[in-house]
Amino acid sequence: MSFSTRVAGLLFLLVLWCRRRPRDPQMIRFGAHVVLVLRYLLAEEIKDTFREKLMTVGDRILHMYSLFLFSKHHEELVGIYASQLASHRCIDLFVHMMELRLNSSVHVKYKIFLSAMEYLPFSQGDDSKGSFEEIIERLLSRSRETKAGKFDETSDVVEQHRLQSLQKALVVQWLCFTPPSTITDVKDISAKLLMRALIHREFALISMWRVPAMPIGAHELLSFLAEPLKQLSETPDTFEDYVSENLKEFQDWSEYYSCDATYRNWLKIELANAEVSADELSVEEKQRAIMAAKETLDLSFLLLLRERNPWLISRVEHISESMEPLFLELHATAMLRLPSGESMCPDATVCAALMSALYSSATEEVVSEHLTRDGMISSNEVMLLKILERVWVTVGLLVRLSEENGPSSSMYWKGIATHELWSDRLFYLNLGLSVRYGHVNVAISSKDSYSIEVILRCLAVEGDGIGPHILNDGGLLSAVMAAGFKGELARFQAGVTLEISRLDAWFSSKDGSLEGPATYIVQGLCRRCCIPEVILRCMQVSVSLMESGNPFESHDQLIELVSSSETGFINLFSQQQLQEFLLFEREYSICKMELLEEPSS
Ligand SMILES: *[C@@H]1O[C@H](CO)[C@@H](O)[C@H](O)[C@H]1NC(C)=O
Repeated sequence: MSFSTRVAGLLFLLVLWCRRRPRDPQMIRFGAHVVLVLRYLLAEEIKDTFREKLMTVGDRILHMYSLFLFSKHHEELVGIYASQLASHRCIDLFVHMMELRLNSSVHVKYKIFLSAMEYLPFSQGDDSKGSFEEIIERLLSRSRETKAGKFDETSDVVEQHRLQSLQKALVVQWLCFTPPSTITDVKDISAKLLMRALIHREFALISMWRVPAMPIGAHELLSFLAEPLKQLSETPDTFEDYVSENLKEFQDWSEYYSCDATYRNWLKIELANAEVSADELSVEEKQRAIMAAKETLDLSFLLLLRERNPWLISRVEHISESMEPLFLELHATAMLRLPSGESMCPDATVCAALMSALYSSATEEVVSEHLTRDGMISSNEVMLLKILERVWVTVGLLVRLSEENGPSSSMYWKGIATHELWSDRLFYLNLGLSVRYGHVNVAISSKDSYSIEVILRCLAVEGDGIGPHILNDGGLLSAVMAAGFKGELARFQAGVTLEISRLDAWFSSKDGSLEGPATYIVQGLCRRCCIPEVILRCMQVSVSLMESGNPFESHDQLIELVSSSETGFINLFSQQQLQEFLLFEREYSICKMELLEEPSS
């Protein structure tokens, strides 16, 4: 018997023993070390077929031992063995372990983090080892997937989504630990980790409701990020542009969430006070509400009045150098919520209605934009456009509906939908009117029956995708999505809002491949949603202060802010938001008059 055959026999024997005595740690431990020694000793000499065996069989034993150590809470030792596994096994194993310890204490999480940092390469190299970056990418992308949902009541759904945002934030915590100083390029790696962690935008849109419950995911995320970012900003090295841009954005968000937290705190006090009749309320309780109100207003004004660096406007221009026609895409996963706050279970009809509503919202946006900007379109052309759009949407719907009836009937409609006629017409319209829509799709998520997946796609034009975007409102796609978000899509059920749990915007090429993130769209969408909301909340708080006889001295400044052409805030408001603004103002004025009329006794 040759030497290598004997070693191969030994390996199989080891696996057999480990299997037979799965509870015997000494056995597995012995096996794992034999594997390591054999690999080390025979690295050079072994032949291909035998190498294969040493790898697969050896991996099985090492895997077993790693899991054993993990189950005994020796997370710090896992890296030594896991790093010897084949790349994909190592990544799978770490992802598995890190997901299992997601809710664990910082101490335990840090042990796994250190173990991975110390024994694995940071970036994927040529040495066929699993890298830290690959593990993190997998974790992040898995955390953003729609989770399979099983709900008994619709009220559960909202709370589930809130909790899921927390789970998503907890994954980001892996990126917020300090790497050990012993590894090479530690500074570089720290910066890289942090930049990957700055993905807070979609968290912002998870909870915009005026309720006391905090958007826990976002607050948790910001608390994770605060410390490492503080360290980073204290070492004023020459950062690359995108790093300082990200730092600025983080500060913008953390300011926003301070406003959010103080507002919800005020709301909580206010709601508690409302349970008691006004006469029975103690002076302290009234005073607490007033203090909280003032704090909310002060912080919000700081955010709104920033003149030199307005909130969430990036200085980096997103200019594409591509000569090809360039497209913009927005992908969102969202939940539908009724005006009552309950979630709504979508069906095929709702999806079709939403699709059509998004579509016509885009058309109207483009048409009105061009009518006002250029005065170029004749009313005939608008008519033509609208008719064509209707037909096109209908054909699209027929394709989708007929797909459910089997492939043969759908072929017919597909043929029509993809007929050159349409693209020619659209091309003509594109040229003549710069109409920019391409594609709208809405579907129920295959995993969670309460989630829908929305895809919007349109042509990039000057000022929206090409060249600088001076309006900072995210352009067409952001306008359409914001209308959905605010529950103001014409021709869709009034007041039903889209609540986003996942959001990405991309530049994409003609054939549909994604080229890179179009950050300005998401930032613009956040501006459209968050800034009017902050202002409306201020109005609400200010009215309440007036009612209690303690008017807020800078109230009129809110009106100036909204109407000023310099801030451009008015463009971020929707019709209904402006109405709400005016109603608050009316209430404020009435209160003021009543207060003046009262005889000062
Ligand atoms: C972590 O906690 C959440 C919420 O309590 C739970 O749904 C999830 O299953 C937990 N994850 C693990 C790995 O324990």
